[in-house]
Amino acid sequence: MSDSPDGDETSVSPQAAIDTETARERDTRIHDRTAGEVQEGIPFIGAGPGDPGLLTVTGRDLVESADLVVHAGSLVNSELLDAYCAEAEQVSSIGKDLEELVPLMRDAYEDGRRVVRLHSGDPAIYGAALEQMDALEHEGVPTYIVPGVTSAFAASATLRTQLTLNGVSNHVAFTRPQGKTLDPEDDHISEFVEMGDVTTCIYLGTHAVAETMDRLLDAGHDPDTPVTAVYHASWPDEDVIEGTIATIGDRVEAAGYRASALVMIGDAARKAGYERSYLYDGWANRDAEGEADD
Ligand SMILES: C[S@@+](CC[C@H](N)C(=O)[O-])C[C@H]1O[C@@H](n2cnc3c(N)ncnc32)[C@H](O)[C@@H]1O
Repeated sequence: MSDSPDGDETSVSPQAAIDTETARERDTRIHDRTAGEVQEGIPFIGAGPGDPGLLTVTGRDLVESADLVVHAGSLVNSELLDAYCAEAEQVSSIGKDLEELVPLMRDAYEDGRRVVRLHSGDPAIYGAALEQMDALEHEGVPTYIVPGVTSAFAASATLRTQLTLNGVSNHVAFTRPQGKTLDPEDDHISEFVEMGDVTTCIYLGTHAVAETMDRLLDAGHDPDTPVTAVYHASWPDEDVIEGTIATIGDRVEAAGYRASALVMIGDAARKAGYERSYLYDGWANRDAEGEADD
């Protein structure tokens, strides 16, 4: 299974795996399996935002029966690990590169141990799950995803609102600000705010709220545009900081948060000015057989 030239079974080249997988034909499992189905291989499970109750039932069942749980360190609430896999071997992925993580999971799986990989929120959002999955698949270890509740959804629940709201927000952007791993030209926060009817959910930006807002002010956005930061949504120390483009930076800094907040820009966070939807109006019920989106 190893792609190393000397046939060393303990070394892998995740980069080679990524290159190979991206060039491959569509995986037949896309048609043969459904999301939520327990499959052969290592599940990449969305742990949800933090509260153990927000892990899916399938995710919990898999974690409860695991021998080895590789998790995303402090991004996964230790209460969840205590509740569901106290007996399993637990390994944090923090500080480990692909070259270490992949053989760790592969060897355990090949030894017949039940391995699960726990990502925070949903693995599909800023999770870097795919490169691990492709490297494992390249090593002959099947993998699949068990979705989870992403932190923007937990934040909207905390705020008792919707991310899409009739008359306010027709679109949602999951985004991140420029920084060490995103070039300024790939930062589109200003464009999303400019669109007006977008709820902009900023991940990975807690340490840079003030700079992000300064850029929006420089771009001419209304300083009174609502911005809300939800720190540790669904954790016991969850905190909500409300402000505007002009004020939120100082407020988050004063609170001392440098990580683990979801920053939401737009009126939806305040439930401001929304209108009755068509769904529970005569429109949806005109034709009893008609289809209505929910
Ligand atoms: C590496 S990303 C992982 C996102 C994760 N896959 C998800 O779906 O929520 C980490 C970022 O997610 C956000 N985040 C994760 N958990 C959070 C929570 N409980 N409350 C608020 N934001 C959270 C923060 O913006 C943090 O910087």
